[in-house]
Amino acid sequence: MRSVEWHHGRVRMIDQRLLPTQLDWLELDEPGEIAQAIREMAVRGAPAIGAAAAFGMALAAQDSTASSRADLLADLEAAATTLRAARPTAVNLAWAVERIMRRVAAEPTAAQMRSAALEQAQAIADEDVAINRRLGQVGAALVPDGATILHHCNTGALATVDYGTALGVIRAAHEAGKQVHVLVDETRPRLQGARLTAWELQQEGIPFTLIADNAAGHFLRTGQVDIVLVGADRVAANGDVANKIGTYKLAVVAQENGVPFYPCVPTSTIDLATLSGDDIPIEERAAEELTGLTFLGQPIAPPGVQVANPAFDVTPHRYVTGIVTENGVAYPPYATTLAGMVRLAGRAAVTGEKDDD
Ligand code: MRU
Repeated sequence: MRSVEWHHGRVRMIDQRLLPTQLDWLELDEPGEIAQAIREMAVRGAPAIGAAAAFGMALAAQDSTASSRADLLADLEAAATTLRAARPTAVNLAWAVERIMRRVAAEPTAAQMRSAALEQAQAIADEDVAINRRLGQVGAALVPDGATILHHCNTGALATVDYGTALGVIRAAHEAGKQVHVLVDETRPRLQGARLTAWELQQEGIPFTLIADNAAGHFLRTGQVDIVLVGADRVAANGDVANKIGTYKLAVVAQENGVPFYPCVPTSTIDLATLSGDDIPIEERAAEELTGLTFLGQPIAPPGVQVANPAFDVTPHRYVTGIVTENGVAYPPYATTLAGMVRLAGRAAVTGEKDDD
C-alpha cells in the first residue's frame, strides 16, 4: 500500500486527516488540488509531499492543452510555482519539482515532455521506497537489541511513499528480530504521533507506548530511552536539522542525558544550498490548529487568544550524534560528510546544475 501513487491518470493518496479512525483515499486530477492537499496536510511528511508534487507536475503536463514545447513549459512553470509554494520547510517538495522541470526541459517535443514528466514522477516514487529500505538497513545497525526508542511525529509509510525513514529504521530492526519498544511522542498540535505513528506501529505489530510530548524529558532523564530516532524536513549543509516542532528540545535533553540522537533522512532531504539552519524557512500554520482542539469536549483555550504555531524547529548540529542516510551514517564534520552522502547519491543540490539521472 503506497501513501501516494499514480492511478489510471489520476493521483491517489491516503487522506491522512481521517486517520486513525478511517482509512480512505483521495483521487485528484489537477495540480491545484495536489497543492491544496499538501497545504491542508491530507498528504504530509517530507518525502510524501515530494512524491505528491512530482505527480502534480505529471498531472499538469497531462492536463495542459499546449501543443508547442514552449507553451507546455510555461504551463509546467505555473504548476511548479503553485506546488512549491504549498509548504516551505520540507526541501523534498522543491527538489522533486525541480527534478521534473530539469527532466522535461531536456525533451525536444511536447509529447515527449508529457511522458517524461510522468516517467520521472514514477521514478521519484519508486526510488523513495527503495531508498527507505536501504536507509532502514543502515539505521537498524545502530539500534541495540532490546532498545527503547523515542520517536517524534510520523516518519513511517504515511510520511513517505512507503516503508518510512526513522520508522523504517524501527521496522527494519523489528524485521531483523530485534526486540524494540517505541515511545511515541503524541506530537502536538496535529498529533501525528498519536494519530499516525501509533496506527502504523499497531499495523506492524511493533510494541509501543504513547506518551505526552511533555513526558519525553522524564523518560530520557530516568534512563528509559536508549536512542532517539526522528525524521527531518531539511538538513542544511552544516548538519543543522529542521524537523517537526519539539524535535530541538528532544535533542538537547537527549545530549544532556548521554542518549544518541539520530535524524534519519533520504539524501533528497539534504540541502547543500542551505548553509545553516538559520537559512531554513519555518512554516507558520493557522491558529486553529491549536484553538480548534478540544479536551473533555471543551475548547482548550478561550476564544480570541493570540497563538504562535511554528510547524518546525531547527536542531543545531552540535546536538546531532549522526545523520542516517541510505548511503551510510554521516558523522561530524557534517560539512564534509553530508556532501559525500549527496555525491554518493549522484545528485546535485536543489539549486545545482543537473541530476545525473
Ligand atoms: O508537518 P508534517 O507532518 O508534514 O511534518 C512531518 C515531519 O516533521 C517528519 O518528521 C518529516 O517530514 C520526516 S518524514 C519521513
